[in-house]
Amino acid sequence: MQPQRKGILLAGGSGTRLHPLTQHTSKHLLPVGGRPMIHYPLATLIATGIREILLISTPRDLPAFQAKLGDGSQFDLHLHYAEQPRPEGIAQAFAIAAHCGFLTGAEPSALILGDNLFHGGPALKETLARAAARDEGATLFYLPVDTPSDYAILKLSDAGQPLALEEKPPAPASNYAIPGLYFYDAQAPALASTLKPSPRGELEITDLNRLYLTRGQLHTEALPPDTTWFDLGTHSALARANHFIIGSQTRRDDPKDSTRIAKASK
Ligand code: TTP
Repeated sequence: MQPQRKGILLAGGSGTRLHPLTQHTSKHLLPVGGRPMIHYPLATLIATGIREILLISTPRDLPAFQAKLGDGSQFDLHLHYAEQPRPEGIAQAFAIAAHCGFLTGAEPSALILGDNLFHGGPALKETLARAAARDEGATLFYLPVDTPSDYAILKLSDAGQPLALEEKPPAPASNYAIPGLYFYDAQAPALASTLKPSPRGELEITDLNRLYLTRGQLHTEALPPDTTWFDLGTHSALARANHFIIGSQTRRDDPKDSTRIAKASK
C-alpha cells in the first residue's frame, strides 16, 4: 500500500514587500478576514485529506507558530516543525524535510506556501482530490491572471499538455499563473537534492517542476473558474484578501445582506 501523503507548509522567507509590518513578525501571522494568514493554507492542506504536516519557518518565527498551533491535536493533525536558517528558496523545503526525517523518500507529499490563499467550492475540492489521488509524478495547478510577469507561468500546447514553465518572465508565453500548491510523488526529495541555486541564489521550485516536465511526469490541472486565489505578498493583496474574506463571511452570516438577497431573488 502507498504510504500516506504528507504536507509541507512553508512559512519562512523575508517578507520584505510587507515591511514595516513584517520587520518583527512573520507575514503568515498577519490578519486576513479575522484569522492569521497561516490558517488558510493549513485549511487547504487539510481539505486534501493530509493529516501529517511539517511547518517550516525562520528561527525567529518558528516559536510563534509552535505556541499558536502546538502539536496539531486540536485540529486532529500531527504537526511537526523545522527551521529554515536562511531564505534559500522554496525547493529547499525538501532538503529540510529529508534532513529532519519527515520525508524518508517513500511517501508522496504536497507543498503549500504559507502566503497562498485558495477560496472555492466543491469543484476546487474535487480538483485537489484528483491531484491527491495521483501516485506518480507531480501536479501543478494554473489559473489565468492579469499580470503574468509577476508569477511562475505555465505554457500549454493546443492539446492542453504542459510545454514550458517560466519564473516571472518579462515576456510571458501565457497568462496562466502557477499558484503555490504543488503535489509530488516520493521522488521529490531526491530530485530536489540535484538542484543548483539560481542566479538569485535560491533553490527554485520551478526548477524542480521542470525536472518533472522533462521526465514526462508533470500533470497540470486548471483551477475551477469559481476559485479565488491570493498570493498575499504585498500590502495591496493583503487589503484585497481581507475585503474578499470579510465580504464572503458577511454574505454567509447576514440574512439581510444585499448580495444574498440579490442572489436569492434571481
Ligand atoms: P516570497 O513571497 O517569494 O518571498 P518572501 O515571503 O520572502 O517575501 P518578499 O519577496 O516580500 O521578501 O515567498 C513566497 C512564500 O514562500 C512565502 O510564504 C515565504 C515562503 N518562503 C520560504 O519560506 N522560504 C524561502 O526561502 C522562500 C524564498 C520563500
